[in-house]
Amino acid sequence: PRGVVRDSDGVLTVSGLNVKDLRAEFGTPAYVLDEDDLRARARAFQAAFQGHDVYYAGKAFLCRAVVRAIDEEGLFLDVCSGGELATALSAGMSPERIGFHGNNKSVRELERAVDAGVGRIIVDSFDEIDRLAAIARERGKRQPVLVRVTVGVEAHTHEFIATAHEDQKFGFSVGGGAAFKAVCKILDDDVLDLRGLHSHIGSQIFDASGFEVAARRVLALQAQIRDARGVELPEIDLGGGFGIAYTTQDDPAAPADLAERMLKIVDDECEARGLAVPKLSVEPGRAIVGPAVFTLYEVGTVKDVDGLRTYVSVDGGMSDNIRTALYDASYSATVAGRASTADPILARVVGKHCESGDIVVKDEFLPADVQPGDLLAVPGTGAYCRSMASNYNHVPRPPVVAVRGGEARVIVRRETEDDLLALDVG
Ligand code: LLP
Repeated sequence: PRGVVRDSDGVLTVSGLNVKDLRAEFGTPAYVLDEDDLRARARAFQAAFQGHDVYYAGKAFLCRAVVRAIDEEGLFLDVCSGGELATALSAGMSPERIGFHGNNKSVRELERAVDAGVGRIIVDSFDEIDRLAAIARERGKRQPVLVRVTVGVEAHTHEFIATAHEDQKFGFSVGGGAAFKAVCKILDDDVLDLRGLHSHIGSQIFDASGFEVAARRVLALQAQIRDARGVELPEIDLGGGFGIAYTTQDDPAAPADLAERMLKIVDDECEARGLAVPKLSVEPGRAIVGPAVFTLYEVGTVKDVDGLRTYVSVDGGMSDNIRTALYDASYSATVAGRASTADPILARVVGKHCESGDIVVKDEFLPADVQPGDLLAVPGTGAYCRSMASNYNHVPRPPVVAVRGGEARVIVRRETEDDLLALDVG
């Protein structure tokens, strides 16, 4: 995060607070959120897509303080479960500014969303269209919806693949004709207010051309709907997925550059097809919260294994960051509590779990004098770390400490053994 620098003693500080003081006050492991950085990233997206809407994807990380920050910065919110919806509402987010996703929302979740007055529900199956129409009709409400379509673009990091069809659980296929049928089904029933089409092509994407192909295919469908049904849908959403730098090898585009390319392709394609330019929305999660957080761990043991590598064990692991084990994701680590002039050694940062795949950082050069009691910081852990955290081995989940304007406060408290035992009612 931008507020993170080393002080004159070489101790890492965030917004002027040093990590040794953070450890003393909050303990380790802890997720440390630079709230000014999160807000600056939210504002950058907002400014880049001015006149359009930016939905923060809450699945990356959600708690009430983050909902409030996102809300204050003028963003909308994407939720994908009843739990995320409840969190958003309990933080006071206005329901019209919430979009609700999911390929298998329950009847209860749909009822709750309609009753709350959620601004849009992104429908994902014919079953859901029937279910939602019945719920809206029963309540005498007209529910705004988007149709989630799959455009045959699969994008990951530096590559994307464009095919006619997409073999995955989300949405309605454009190539196979299901998307057009879903649109017709909704248009034929007045109880759902069809606002537009939605496409999400993947996550941690650097190659913006995937978004361009997706936009063209969505707008081709838009033109098909106009020609067949005489309606031009007013909105399109091109989803999230904007990549961030986990290591120095990654070079993500700035939101302003992404926005420029996306808005230009939409303009050009609309002009070519004689369509009015729809309102655009996007749903960044990772790009807003990911870089704003680092995890602070304490080193417990240092073990040289047969001269091959040094294993540095920290007091957390795969329960607070599953991404290395699950996706072979790359992270970095740095000794945070002091400076060192020792030579670098090849180290692997591992957790405390009973599993050899419990790796936090696969390969990292750490100073040879790394020792028990040292603090380690792992940056870029804001997205999909706390939100995918578990209690594996009955290890309580770490707190989230937000630092803003030189002050630190707990926004999600540390889980306790009592919390764990409270669920065990046998
Ligand atoms: N919109 C939709 C419809 C999505 O499905 C997602 C992510 C997003 C927006 C936000 O994507 P983002 O901007 O954060 O990349 N657990 C995985 C990521 C799963 C993403 C799922 N959908 C990971 O840790 O990399």
